Amino acid sequence: MKLVSPSLLSADFGNLQRDIEMLNASECDWLHVDVMDGIFVPNISFGQPIVKHIKRHAQKPLDVHLMIMDPGRYVADFKEAGADIMTVHYEACTHLDRTIHAIHDHGMKAGVVLNPHTAVCLLEDIVQECDLVLLMSVNPGFGGQKFIENTYNKVRQLRALCDRKNPQCLIEVDGGVNLQNAPLLYGAGADVLVAGNAVFKSADPKQTIHDLKQ
Ligand code: DX5
Ligand code: ZN
Repeated sequence: MKLVSPSLLSADFGNLQRDIEMLNASECDWLHVDVMDGIFVPNISFGQPIVKHIKRHAQKPLDVHLMIMDPGRYVADFKEAGADIMTVHYEACTHLDRTIHAIHDHGMKAGVVLNPHTAVCLLEDIVQECDLVLLMSVNPGFGGQKFIENTYNKVRQLRALCDRKNPQCLIEVDGGVNLQNAPLLYGAGADVLVAGNAVFKSADPKQTIHDLKQ
């Protein structure tokens, strides 16, 4: 599959409705929503009230990436705010299996996120419970960072793990994705690419989304 999930972290927060309408009219598949708590990552983005407003305008599923400690505490809140897909960090959950089940119990697709230093083999006993796995290709916290090249290896390792344990599981990649590395990522086995700066800082965001899907 070749899906694109533009990250609203790079949108113009003063013109969110305008930018969401642009995405509605584009070929993108999901809207990537980055929630940061200033503890798990060194930055604070936004919480449920903003997600609620995003949901009011969005015509595509909200792909909510929780960069917060102990995200199990907020599964119900972000479901209520409008999340359709929820991903939580391996590094932020003590009881990851319980959190993934809670996300499913709230009727959402569930995924685990790995930071760049976290090994794919650690998913061995959780991947069968996941609808998707998100590999961070930058250290989370900020848009516009440089893509980490080792991500290609991790995508290939994860593809092999999914083929063995859960062939339906989607592989998403987030951070520094652009028109140059997108074909290589899809080639390595990625299904969903998140793109913030590559979309919103381009001269023609809709065209860039179209090109990312090729
Ligand atoms: C980073 C966020 C990303 C970010 C991607 O912590 O998880 O989703 O918005 O932005 P780019 O594509 O600009 O690296
Ligand atoms: Zn993200």
